[in-house]
Order: sequence, then structure tokens, then C-alpha cells
Amino acid sequence: MANSSIYHATATAPVNIAVIKYWGKASTKLNTPTNSSLSVTLSQDDLRTITTASCCASFESDALWLNGTPHDVSNARSQACFSELRTLRKAKEDKDSSLPPLSAYKLHLISENNFPTAAGLASSAAGFAAFVRAIADLYELDESPTELSRIARQGSGSACRSLFGGYVAWEKGDREDGQDSLAVQVAPESHWPTMRAAILVISDAKKGVSSTSGMQATVATSTLFPNRANVVVPARMDAMKKAIAEKDFEAFAELTMADSNSFHAVCLDTIPPIFYMNDTSRAAVRVVEEINRSVGKKVAAYTFDAGPNAVVYYDEANQDIVLGTLKKATANITGWSDKYAHINATVPEGFNEA
Ligand code: DP6
Repeated sequence: MANSSIYHATATAPVNIAVIKYWGKASTKLNTPTNSSLSVTLSQDDLRTITTASCCASFESDALWLNGTPHDVSNARSQACFSELRTLRKAKEDKDSSLPPLSAYKLHLISENNFPTAAGLASSAAGFAAFVRAIADLYELDESPTELSRIARQGSGSACRSLFGGYVAWEKGDREDGQDSLAVQVAPESHWPTMRAAILVISDAKKGVSSTSGMQATVATSTLFPNRANVVVPARMDAMKKAIAEKDFEAFAELTMADSNSFHAVCLDTIPPIFYMNDTSRAAVRVVEEINRSVGKKVAAYTFDAGPNAVVYYDEANQDIVLGTLKKATANITGWSDKYAHINATVPEGFNEA
């Protein structure tokens, strides 16, 4: 008799925001990067994707629903993840014939973000990390998060870092086959638990140039880019790991802001130029610079991804000055379509008030 059981597993994955940015692909096929990167994982209480993976002998095709809407999974990235995970499951089934043949069944994935997709926040990182984690759990795979990061990377580069909490490096790797292009945890969240991130939503519009096409254009045309990828970022990776190991916020802030600026500089140096930051983003930079100047040391660090929204890192000890000033300043800046803070542990009271 045919097996009519439905097997399922649910997993969550958090959003991560890079402080040393991934920008540039060494191989578009393998989705390997031109430089290593490093991120801080945000609290799952605030920003995360939850995905349920199920499979059954009677499912006719692989399918994905994101926030209730069907999404195409025939693309090479999703297919690469499905295929790698099925191969691992098949190896397990070959070793133990009592296991149900899940590797032969089609998969259905139901995915929800607990943050508005329209908020313009990178959702592909949490999305592909939850996708891979849920299927790995469904298949009862024994592979470590680092081994799974090799698979999530093929879905979306930044997703490989969302398989861990805390401070996470994606080491670019040197092998032609991409097997050593993996994420590793540099430090757990408990190492520096007072780190906080405020997200200032400047625009909830979908970004004009996707990360994937933007970084390919930069690699192809920017004359500043080789120096960034080969000289600047390798030195910054070492310095950032040291800053995190020593919980040196000033060094962390200096490196974070410098790397965000360097990434946006190579975007501007791309032909045609790519503008992710807008006037409001630049106003946010000036507010952070002013906070740091008024305190006399770096207590806040801005960073911008492939869009205008600001993420401001700060230590909890400086919450009042950082959030207080941001709140006051943003009231005078036009162009904030929305503003709220996602903090690792809690959203500070009053920040969302008009
Ligand atoms: C600016 O991971 O979205 O956020 O691998 O093409 O899916 P693909 O790119 P993606 O790029 C993220 C770029 C970034 C920097 C970062 O997160 O490191």
C-alpha cells in the first residue's frame, strides 16, 4: 500500500545585517563571493522567517508559499538547495533502509515573515536560511549549521550567515568548487549581549537594483572594486574579529561605518552608477556623526544595505543618548515613511511614538 503519511518540520531563521559587506560574486553559478563578510544576527523576537516544510508521496510538485502567496521554485537557486538537501537525505536512506524515502517526495514549503515584507528589509537571508533549516530538520540531517550554510549560500549569499545567532563570518573560501565558502560563528550573542540595532525605515519601496544584478555590475565595471575586495576587506575582516573579541565598540563602529561607505562608494563607481542611499539616508548619517561628536567617542554606528534604510548599532549602555537623539532628529527629517526600532531584546518604549 502506498505511504500516505505527510511528514513535516518547522524552523525559524533570523535576519542578519552585515557590518563587513558581501558585494561581488566570484562565481555566479556557485554563488561564491569575491570577499569574506561578517554580520550580526538580529533577535528572532523582532525579525525572522518561519517555514514549515512538508513532503508526502502524493505531492505532485515542489511548491513554496511566502506570506500566503505562491512563489516560483523553478529558479536555479531554489533548485540547488532542494537538490543538495535531497542528496544528503538519500545518503541517509541508503544507509538505513527503515527510513521512509522522503528524498523521492516533492516538498511543500509555507513561509511567513514576522516583519512587513514591504519594510524594505533584506528578507532573502532569513528566507533561504529558514528554507534550508526546515528541510534539513524534516530530513533529520545531522549536518552542522556550517555544513548547511554551504547550501543556504546557493539560495542567497547572505542567507548562509542566518544559520547562526550572534556574530557570524562568511569565509569566502578558495576552492574552485565552492565547498569551503561557508559561514562560521565568530562569537555567540552571549559574548556581547548588550549590542543593539535600531532599524530606521526610510523607504518601504522595493529596491530599484537587486543585490544580485547590482553586485555583478560593480564587479564588471568599478575600478575601485578590486582594491575593496582584495585589499580593504581582508584587513577589515581581521580588525572586525578583533573588535568583537575585545568588545571594543569604538573599533566596531569605525569599521562598520567605513565598510558601509566603501560598499556604497563602489556602487557609485559602477557604470551606470547605483544609488541605494538617498537624501534621508545621508541625513541619518549626519545624525549619527553628530551623536558621536557630542559624546566625544563613537557610541553609534550606521550601516546601509542595498537600499536607503539605516541600521544603527549601539551598546545598550548608550541607549538613551542614541535613541533619544535619533528620535528627536528624525522628527525634523522629512522622508521617513515609517520609523521604528528593532532591538535585539526589546523595542524601547516611546521610540515609535509620534
Ligand atoms: C548589501 O545575499 O541578497 O546586503 O547572493 O545575490 O542573493 P545574492 O545577494 P544577497 O546580497 C546581500 C548584499 C548586502 C550585503 C550583505 O548582506 O553582506
